[in-house]
Amino acid sequence: MEPPEMINAGELVLKRWEPAWAPEALVAIKESLPELREFLPWATEAYNLDDAVDYITRSQEGWAEGDQFNYAIFTSVGELVGSIGLMTRMGPGVLEIGYWMRTPYAGRGFMTAAVDALTRVALTLPGIDRVAIKHDEANRASAAVAVKAGFTEVSRAPREVEAPGESGTTIVRERQH
Ligand SMILES: CC(C)(COP(=O)(O)OP(=O)(O)OC[C@H]1O[C@@H](n2cnc3c(N)ncnc32)[C@H](O)[C@@H]1OP(=O)(O)O)[C@@H](O)C(=O)NCCC(=O)NCCS
Repeated sequence: MEPPEMINAGELVLKRWEPAWAPEALVAIKESLPELREFLPWATEAYNLDDAVDYITRSQEGWAEGDQFNYAIFTSVGELVGSIGLMTRMGPGVLEIGYWMRTPYAGRGFMTAAVDALTRVALTLPGIDRVAIKHDEANRASAAVAVKAGFTEVSRAPREVEAPGESGTTIVRERQH
């Protein structure tokens, strides 16, 4: 089971992460910290180039091992605007999507388009019959993306708070064939 290295999503293109993009990823993350830090525990002032390189290295290893498939998101003119990935950690039959968007590009429907395209690809993979998005109840933007991309709630449960914006309730939404 392996998704394509490149996926077209309307005016965006998703490309498997490459080490050369670490410096641009760092710039994107640094300028988006006020939004990212609310819901992503790794997004802190201390985030640096080593962390970006490490993320891409782990993404390459995860791709080779078949347990995560992470993509950088680019506009049609080559601006790196975010990240999105598929993870197998929820178990057989389901792939979980995670994502972040670079703040100056937020609110344009970009993540909704990326999620829709990646979900359609995921549902073509052998053995995969559903795709999931997990988000904190307080994460209204992530909830809006999931709902707009056709995901419906299947469960909610208490969970340890890991980032400042979290309420402690995680909602799981799924989209099926
Ligand atoms: C979640 C995130 C990826 C959305 O990216 P995006 O490209 O702005 O997404 P879209 O433009 O496709 O859609 C965003 C939607 O959220 C809505 N939204 C944004 N902020 C919101 C808020 N504070 N309250 C309610 N809705 C909000 C927008 O209005 C839009 O919905 P609409 O089109 O119905 O108006 C981005 O906000 C982000 O990176 N957040 C921080 C990281 C994160 O939370 N990742 C997900 C963890 S589960």
